[in-house]
Formats: sequence, structure tokens, C-alpha cells
Amino acid sequence: MKKFTVNQHILAYERHGHGEPLVLIHGFPLDHTIWDEVVPLLQDDFDLILPDLRGFGESDAVDTPYTMDDLAADLASLLDHLGLEAASLAGHSMGGYVALAFADAYPQRTRGLALVSSQAAADAPDRKAGRYAQAHKIAEEGIGETVAAMTVKLTADERVQKIVHDLMRKQKPAGYIGTLKAMAERTEKLSMLERTSFPVLIVHGGADGLIPLPREIPLNVTRTRVVELAGVGHMPMMESAREVADALKSLK
Ligand code: MLT
Repeated sequence: MKKFTVNQHILAYERHGHGEPLVLIHGFPLDHTIWDEVVPLLQDDFDLILPDLRGFGESDAVDTPYTMDDLAADLASLLDHLGLEAASLAGHSMGGYVALAFADAYPQRTRGLALVSSQAAADAPDRKAGRYAQAHKIAEEGIGETVAAMTVKLTADERVQKIVHDLMRKQKPAGYIGTLKAMAERTEKLSMLERTSFPVLIVHGGADGLIPLPREIPLNVTRTRVVELAGVGHMPMMESAREVADALKSLK
């Protein structure tokens, strides 16, 4: 992977293809490799930029607290590093929260936004408390229980379960803990989407057991396109790569 230093920590990324810049942002607690099956389907259409978010993959983990805005600022530094003024962003789940934070902070740098298995709402109080409890448990006992619980929630597809299980096992506990707290503290972004003017694409599995289809976005944001994939769980880019790639081409 390519690497550069931002605010004293190393951020790793891959870059493939040619065309309009499109940043593919992975979810929690994963890394850029979740997009491996869509990259060959998109690289003739886009300049694909695939970061490992702070704390994941080959990027450094940091022990100081950070927010979704900090993760969005990391991406802005990555675009600066690549000499890119603006890009479209496609974020999977937590990656969608980062993409929304980016669009809020840098609307002039956002050409389009895809939320893949994600949402614009903030956490309800019980969910927020649950994230802090989970972070505490990981600090005390490690990631084992979280990995086992998440594997079956992410997808019913056994091939994909095996891949995501191995991927989650490889991630650093500090990355889990830092992003659980950042997710807990994130703010809602529906009002931001109502104000801005870039196109919004929602790609969502019809059988997603983690996050329900965010129906309020198309109701409030008229320039939204929704692609719902029947029978697909929380990992559509692995469960249904062709359909996800075809949907993302509308960001061109
Ligand atoms: C993810 O898949 O990125 C997370 O499960 C999202 C979340 O917990 O809200």
C-alpha cells in the first residue's frame, strides 16, 4: 500500500484506475480490502482511492480520542496529498458516517455521495451507551467476542462470513476502541443532506440485519437514488459486487 503521514500518524491507501476521483471508504471494523471485488469493475470508470481509516488495516492506530470529523479531515489531507480538489465518496456503514462528516465539513470538495449500508441518523442513547460498553469490554478482554457476534450479523453468506471474520481478527483493538467512541459521538446529517446539492446514492441490502434502509433520506432529499438489493445483508460490495459497481457508476 502507499503511505503518507498526516498529523504524525501514517495513513495507508490504494489507488487504482482512471477517471473521476471516487473514494471508497470501508466500514467498522474492517479495511479497504472489502472493496476488492468491485475495484476491477470500476477501475475503467474512476480514479479509485481506497484508504485504510485511522486505526485499521495498515494505517496507524492512535490512543488519543478522535471524532468522525477527524477521520474526514484525514481524507481531506489524503486528497491534498494526491493533488485532488474534489471527489465523490462512497462509504460503507461507518465509512458512510465518515463520508457524511466529510461532505458536511467540505461541501465544495464533495461531488457526490454514496451511502452503502449506512444511515444519516445519530445513535439513540441506548446504542451510544452500548458502544462505550463495547469499547470498555474490548479494552479489558480483547476483540474475540465482538468479532464472533459481528460475523453473523454482517452477512448470512458463508463465503463472505469467512472473509470478514478473518479481516476483523486482524484489526487492532485500539482501532476498534477509537472508532466505537467516534461513532457514538457522531451527529445526525440528514439536515446537512437537505441543505447541500450534490447527488446522493443509497445502496442497501434488503436483508441488512444491522442498519435498516434509511427511508427518510429520499423522502427529504429529492436528488437521492435508492438501490435496494433483495436478499443481501450488510456487505453488499462482497455479496453482490456487480450490482454495487453498477449503482456506483451513476456517480460518474
Ligand atoms: C459498520 O458496519 O461500519 C458498523 O457496524 C456501523 C455501526 O455500528 O453503526
